[in-house]
Amino acid sequence: MPGVTDVLVNEPGKAWVDRGRGLESQSVDLADAAAVRALAVTMASAGGRRLDDASPLVDARLPDGTRLHAALPPVAQDCAAISLRRVRTSALSLDDLAVGGMISAPAVPLVRELVRRRCSALITGATGSGKTTLLASLLSEVEPRERILIIEEAGELQPRHPHVVRLVERRANIEGSGAISMPTLVREALRMRPDRVVLGECRGPEVRDVLTAFNTGHRGGFATLHANSPQDAPARLVALGALAGMDQRTVEVQAAIAFDVVLHVERVRGARRLSSIAVMEMGTAGLSAVEAVGWTARGWRQGPGWSTLVAAMGGWEVADAA
Ligand SMILES: Nc1ncnc2c1ncn2[C@@H]1O[C@H](COP(=O)(O)OP(=O)(O)O)[C@@H](O)[C@H]1O
Ligand SMILES: [Mg+2]
Repeated sequence: MPGVTDVLVNEPGKAWVDRGRGLESQSVDLADAAAVRALAVTMASAGGRRLDDASPLVDARLPDGTRLHAALPPVAQDCAAISLRRVRTSALSLDDLAVGGMISAPAVPLVRELVRRRCSALITGATGSGKTTLLASLLSEVEPRERILIIEEAGELQPRHPHVVRLVERRANIEGSGAISMPTLVREALRMRPDRVVLGECRGPEVRDVLTAFNTGHRGGFATLHANSPQDAPARLVALGALAGMDQRTVEVQAAIAFDVVLHVERVRGARRLSSIAVMEMGTAGLSAVEAVGWTARGWRQGPGWSTLVAAMGGWEVADAA
């Protein structure tokens, strides 16, 4: 199904499908709750995972790369809930994103320069807003002779780049041992001579290791963070840092140094857009994300963070971004 990004089933007979215009319902040949459950179990086993009453939740990758989440009753009420997210097998380029409308065309050279000049970027947005997609295209802009180390939970990022090393989290086995955590993977990645350290999604205590890495000479790295606006990013980072025993001020001071820019993606009426680029600034009230440039349907606007952004890039002609 070309153009489909998500397929969701949580009752017999019906699926919700996202073709880029938001969710639309569609009838499917699943007669009853037992059929939905059987489909969930079959797909989980195709992804090499068990799904049954003893382990009623699964997060797996299917052989074609699709990401599967499934929950069985009684955790999911009444009927199994299946969530499928299609993952691209090859990244879109920044120009592709501009053609598709995600990036305003004049912003492309600016974004490309951010990568080339090794600015460290935090990509923020809600779930499904396109953070991973944007990150994969940014990584496709990295010089071929640089070595990219990606730390991920599920192996989603597929940049077009000749030199990518990927470390994927390992969960505990049935006896509860053998887990290799995200913080461990971040620390290991630093010993593997990375030119670019990339954390696919920052969602737990590994934020501490990433902040440390980006504060100690590993420039030009990337991470994504679930945040509904760039202004929410500092509080999200502080909350995740607390999971690693970091106090608020430490997180804020380190984040201000770690990230040169915050790239925010948004979904407006189904369409995904890079809506703003902000810079992190440490003020008397703590850390804040200050808009440097923003795009709306009517054009672009320069924000109070512009001069900080230009300084982080080591210079940029305003005319180039107009
Ligand atoms: N610019 C885009 N054009 C087409 N499809 C996109 C675009 N951005 C995201 N998608 C699709 O939307 C879905 C969600 O995007 P993703 O990058 O995984 O979001 P996030 O990481 O924010 O949760 C994916 O299936 C992805 O392929
Ligand atoms: Mg993602």
